[in-house]
Amino acid sequence: MSTTTRRGLFLTFEGLDGCGKTTQKRLLAERLRQAGERVVETVEPGGTAIGSQIRRILLDPANDHLDPRAEMLLYFAARAQNVAEILLPALERGEIVISDRWTDSTWAYQGFGRDLGTSLVQDIDEIACRGHKPDLTFLIDIDVETGLQRAHQRNAGASAAETRMDQQSRAFYERVREGYDTLAVAVPERVVRIDGHGSAYEVAARVWAAFEKFRRAHGR
Ligand code: TMP
Repeated sequence: MSTTTRRGLFLTFEGLDGCGKTTQKRLLAERLRQAGERVVETVEPGGTAIGSQIRRILLDPANDHLDPRAEMLLYFAARAQNVAEILLPALERGEIVISDRWTDSTWAYQGFGRDLGTSLVQDIDEIACRGHKPDLTFLIDIDVETGLQRAHQRNAGASAAETRMDQQSRAFYERVREGYDTLAVAVPERVVRIDGHGSAYEVAARVWAAFEKFRRAHGR
């Protein structure tokens, strides 16, 4: 199936750790289902049984010596499985797929955060995702300080098995943030910035407005 013949819609949420994108993905999925749409939710890394096993390796704080290239390839391995098992079948059925993170995270975290560069990320994306890109990406925008505070609070109460990425330095997150900024400028037709400050419902209203605007513009 080529990207031009697919019938469904592929939406992604992106942003720094603690930006609130997981809540926003759930709220958008609920609203779309209430409107009668068939929605498939997924997450990167994860989303499939194999992807969840890869996620455990990636986020295990014991793996602090994971090589940056090995890290990037593992993120893409999880994604390739997601493409085969979830994304493409759902798009062929004409459904709306909403993913919590996708290749833009690899662009920002590995391309900028780990300094691997974006051309490597783009090249491997072609292999892993077979040319399939999101139709619309919501970039939930918060400052690094707020994101780190929220992520640390979340980790204090949650699984200590998933903290490896959250233990990176502040400088790392500043580079990730720069990666997202660069992306929003590079592909403004796909990536829409959403102010992530305020209540979850205020942010959800901004997400919905951006979605409606996209639909009107593309007749979807
Ligand atoms: P999550 O907490 O949003 O589920 O994401 C897990 C962590 O993995 C988060 O710190 C961002 C990071 N990540 C990357 O570094 N590269 C990627 O390609 C993806 C999808 C996530």
